Amino acid sequence: MRMITTVAEMRQWSDHERRRGTRIGFVPTMGALHAGHLSLITRAKTNADVVVASIFVNPTQFGPREDFASYPRTLERDVDLLAQEGVAVVFAPPTGEMYPSGCITAVRVEGLSARLEGAIRPSHFAGVTLVVAKLFHIVQPHVAVFGRKDAQQAIILQRMVRDLDFGVELDVAPTVREADGLAMSSRNVYLSIAERKQAVVLARALQTGFRTWNEGERKSAVLRALMMNVLAEEPAARLDYLEIVSQRTLEPVAMVRSGTLVAGAIRVGKTRLIDNWWVREDGTGEF
Ligand code: PAJ
Repeated sequence: MRMITTVAEMRQWSDHERRRGTRIGFVPTMGALHAGHLSLITRAKTNADVVVASIFVNPTQFGPREDFASYPRTLERDVDLLAQEGVAVVFAPPTGEMYPSGCITAVRVEGLSARLEGAIRPSHFAGVTLVVAKLFHIVQPHVAVFGRKDAQQAIILQRMVRDLDFGVELDVAPTVREADGLAMSSRNVYLSIAERKQAVVLARALQTGFRTWNEGERKSAVLRALMMNVLAEEPAARLDYLEIVSQRTLEPVAMVRSGTLVAGAIRVGKTRLIDNWWVREDGTGEF
């Protein structure tokens, strides 16, 4: 496995592989890798000849009062895990390599970036779209794999790729969960033992909604009320939002049908957690 830390070397590697006709798969991450990230690598391998993974804790997607400084950094362990997964290249640039001083260009997906997570983290998605646009130019992948865990991020990036003609295929992979249902997240390490038990309430609430939807209930108001009842069983979990929206517009919908996203965010102690379930275009659901 090759470790690359400069933009020039990464681009050179990709130019060379593309000329040889290699299909490049790409999995961008902020490190602190868990089984959810590794599932994306496995998936990328099935759809590409070689896989590049990036590890970059992107400062521009953290708000001024957020956890950029304390975000878990476990580079050595991450690199070992990626080597075991058969990744060809780890691209792990220092901050100054990605953001040399004087970068004044923005990449923003309007509207969608202001909803749900964006309503609470106003500059977050502008940071995500900026860094992913840069990573796509540097790594030049044919296909990039993202997690459905961050559903709004995947939706916004799909829109960016379409609107700006990136010519990169986006693949969105299912959420990997702990045994009790909690969605895996790099931020789960922030949870104390007591908070870890409280945190699972979001998955339990969403799963209750999903089960009831599978039994035939379609009304958003009914499903939302059921999920809110479950959330109320854990007063330590403070709700940021629980919304039932169209995946196209992220605006609320009255019925949960094809193309609907059911997304929630809670705070437990100082930790923010998000999770969701959704209905595919073919009418099947995924939690
Ligand atoms: P990060 O939070 O490290 O996540 C990297 C990728 O792993 C994302 O596509 C995310 O959706 C996916 N992922 C996280 N938890 C998952 C889980 N439990 N199951 C499946 N996939 C999961 O998302 C980011 O980094 C950044 O915003 C990034 C896209 C790298 C841009 O900086």
